[in-house]
Amino acid sequence: MGNKIKKLIFKEEKRQRETLNLIASENYIPKNIRDVLSSRLSNKYSEGYPGKRYYAGNEYIDEIEKLARKNALELFGLKEAEWSVNVQPLSGTPANLAVYFALVPLNGKIMAQCLDCGGHLSHGSPLSITSKLWKWVHYTLDKKTQKLDYNAILSLAKKEKPKLIVAGVSAYSRIIDFKKIGKIAEKIGAYLMVDMSHIAGLVAGKVYPSPFPCADVVTTTTHKTLRGPRGAIIFANRKSQIAKRADINIVNLIDKAVFPGLQGGPHNQQTAAIALCLEEAKKPAFKKYAKQVVKNAKTLAEELRKKDFKIVSGGTDSHLFLIDLIFSGLEFGGKQAQERLEKGGIILNMNIIPFDEKKARDPSGIRIGTPAITSRGMKEKEMKTIAGWISEILKSPETDLPIVQRRIKKEVEKLCRAFPIL
Ligand SMILES: Cc1ncc(COP(=O)(O)O)c(C=O)c1O
Repeated sequence: MGNKIKKLIFKEEKRQRETLNLIASENYIPKNIRDVLSSRLSNKYSEGYPGKRYYAGNEYIDEIEKLARKNALELFGLKEAEWSVNVQPLSGTPANLAVYFALVPLNGKIMAQCLDCGGHLSHGSPLSITSKLWKWVHYTLDKKTQKLDYNAILSLAKKEKPKLIVAGVSAYSRIIDFKKIGKIAEKIGAYLMVDMSHIAGLVAGKVYPSPFPCADVVTTTTHKTLRGPRGAIIFANRKSQIAKRADINIVNLIDKAVFPGLQGGPHNQQTAAIALCLEEAKKPAFKKYAKQVVKNAKTLAEELRKKDFKIVSGGTDSHLFLIDLIFSGLEFGGKQAQERLEKGGIILNMNIIPFDEKKARDPSGIRIGTPAITSRGMKEKEMKTIAGWISEILKSPETDLPIVQRRIKKEVEKLCRAFPIL
């Protein structure tokens, strides 16, 4: 390995070991999965799908891809006769693009949760190419409860008649009622695509409702709560009523949209690592992990609430939550909060909050997630300690701040040594 790269990798690994990672979309993947990622599978070109490749020598790659699909079905309790699985999308954004590309004509209308209310860039943000290719309407949250308002979603859907509705979020802490959104989609004859990227591990662990009974398509990344390699999966419902009525084969359209529509050869080392992460997620230990992720998030949110921080929507049902810093009485926004905490060894991200009056570069909030620290083995006791540190750093007057940060950074390092990363 080149010396410079080796040194930088060493430094990054040290940073990961010695800091507390509260970024809701990150996790630590186990060594067996990291080993697969560095295997010689990445030497191989495999354009096409198992049994239908454009290159010779894919006998074993075919087996790997079939195994990944089988594991995906088993993990989420699905039947092959009802659901198809595509494990080739390189990541979450290309997976979502492939679904839109397959099911919605260019300039057709799509409805999704707006970015300011927890949606994702790939759900029609003006900064994403998705907004240039399709027309978007966005549903928001109830201003008072900061939760989804299904009557408002129904009214908007009836008025706008989108061809596809997206349910799924990056920064919304509450349970999404997939049944209700499914019924809305059914009423107006739209496809329901659930992007479960953030919650896939919680769904696998049965601590969050499954979207499969209600959706036509489900997309997910594999690197967040699912604790796998970077990558994504698209599940397409072979029994989709809306596809049947339109005489459309959604499986074919989605597979073609992924390859050759948007991508070339799949990353085989990634496919194998996905197969392995799905196998890991089937184990009882993963169910315990998922349960603890939610327990930890609830404890951390409650401890911060007791310290007078304003938690958006009042709490969490999942692995993450947002703090409204301005409403909490602080005189600075998310950017400064993120920087203050980083100097104390606590890593998280600034985040827009619902109906934020500030901009994304310095929004009013921060997002806090527990998937990574739970992978280290931390539990409720540690959440209480971490809540104390967050509060101290955020409330410290400027004059005392450097001393507070130095002291807490040392304490964070000590805690991190007691809970090593995977
Ligand atoms: C809900 C949701 N969908 C899609 C993505 C995109 O994933 P990627 O960064 O792999 O493109 C994310 C990433 O954070 C996400 O939160």
